Amino acid sequence: MQTAIDLLTTNETYFYREPAHFVQLQTLARRSLERRESMSIWSAASSSGEEIYTIAMVLQQLIDTGQPVRWEILGSDISTRVIASAQRGVYPLERVQRLPQDLLHRYCLKGAGPAAGTVLVDKSLRRKVRFTSINLIEPLPDIGPFDVIFLRNVLIYFDLPTKQKVLRAVLPPNASGWRAVRGHGRA
Ligand SMILES: C[S@@+](CC[C@H](N)C(=O)[O-])C[C@H]1O[C@@H](n2cnc3c(N)ncnc32)[C@H](O)[C@@H]1O
Repeated sequence: MQTAIDLLTTNETYFYREPAHFVQLQTLARRSLERRESMSIWSAASSSGEEIYTIAMVLQQLIDTGQPVRWEILGSDISTRVIASAQRGVYPLERVQRLPQDLLHRYCLKGAGPAAGTVLVDKSLRRKVRFTSINLIEPLPDIGPFDVIFLRNVLIYFDLPTKQKVLRAVLPPNASGWRAVRGHGRA
């Protein structure tokens, strides 16, 4: 079954996909810093890790520029194959094409010799993120609560009742304070 899931899922992703979401993340992180709170983030369909490492880079950059945000990130996916790939943190160069150069230079190592044409996400970030396998359409394990949930480019694979079920499971019971980040139709 797992092999079938690994083969059937569409895992398309890349670094810094939909930049507006990461700008919004920075704003939320600065707000949490003002309130002296830590930030807990869940990438709920993290695929091979590009999304979660982008989140980690954006937050770590705040720290490295004197804004000591405290954060923790969980990445999950139904496919164990992509989770294993995310844990390795090695990517072909084309996946980082849209990553701002300062993030690329600060948080990625360029492969040489047999690793030419790839980048490796810095160990300091790989150590700070956790990955696990979660099927969003089954009852969720006891995780969270989270301040921010990235649920991107995954609901599109579900029919309407399933989308509603997943959203009910993922959002807190009183979700009136939650809203979509504007300008990005695909959930
Ligand atoms: C197109 S990728 C999106 C990756 C990333 N969120 C992004 O936007 O770049 C969709 C991911 O959703 C995962 N997925 C599909 N069905 C799922 C389910 N029922 N539970 C958890 N993950 C699922 C797939 O394995 C795949 O890695």
